Amino acid sequence: MIYFIGAGPGDPELITVKGKRHIEEADIIIYAGSLVNKALLANIRKGAEIYDSAGMTLEEVLEVMVKGAQAGKKIARVHTGDPSIFGAIREQLDALDKYHIEYEVIPGVSSFLATAAALKKEYTLPGITQTVILTRMEGRTAVPASEKIEALARHQATMIIFLSAGMLVELVDKLQCGYPANTPVAVVYKASWPEQLIVQGTLQDIAEKVQIAGIRKTALVVVGDFLGDEYELSKLYDKHFTHEFRNGSA
Ligand SMILES: C[S@@+](CC[C@H](N)C(=O)[O-])C[C@H]1O[C@@H](n2cnc3c(N)ncnc32)[C@H](O)[C@@H]1O
Repeated sequence: MIYFIGAGPGDPELITVKGKRHIEEADIIIYAGSLVNKALLANIRKGAEIYDSAGMTLEEVLEVMVKGAQAGKKIARVHTGDPSIFGAIREQLDALDKYHIEYEVIPGVSSFLATAAALKKEYTLPGITQTVILTRMEGRTAVPASEKIEALARHQATMIIFLSAGMLVELVDKLQCGYPANTPVAVVYKASWPEQLIVQGTLQDIAEKVQIAGIRKTALVVVGDFLGDEYELSKLYDKHFTHEFRNGSA
């Protein structure tokens, strides 16, 4: 059996109880060494085989998984954050289906959630936006034309941009096709790690601030007025508002 596990954003306490248990019980562990915190491997079984997928091809990862599964071993495939977000998990699952190998996916805390926690902000503020866009800039991986940053920016929703901190000058240019120049932006480096760093500014000045801070990778760029101080109070806790669990007082 193969367990695809979201390891969380970095802090070893931000993995699920279930994910941690499966890592500790596994005979074979394949982890994304570039971002998964090695502290998560502290209590693994004696004699467990460990592979860092950072230096492996898809075929090599599959070979370890298929051979291990066919030998009846328990395998933990450990991805950073949550594997459904830029995790390159689908190609692995589809290949395992062809071998009729069983697997389970255990979700994790994505870095975009750890970023909101680090900022102590809420992405969906009443009266500001009710939409969160998770995306990336085009790099070696193409992005469909309808999802170009310029097009998404026109919604002025909360936008979270992965894999793009190294292209910030270009990114803020594109963002300004939709957001006003004074829109707040934060760049969060290694959210939840001890070396976490937060740089805040506006679309006009963030690129320079981030360059001074020396951040080029392992960071998220988050944009939108959710970072500001104006919003409406929620209906959920409004004393005049009745819902399934509470009667309104007026
Ligand atoms: C290949 S993607 C994997 C994302 C992961 N599956 C997740 O849910 O967070 C790697 C990118 O995620 C972001 N990232 C991952 N961990 C991060 C962290 N702790 N803090 C900030 N950004 C992070 C960076 O943009 C990085 O370039």
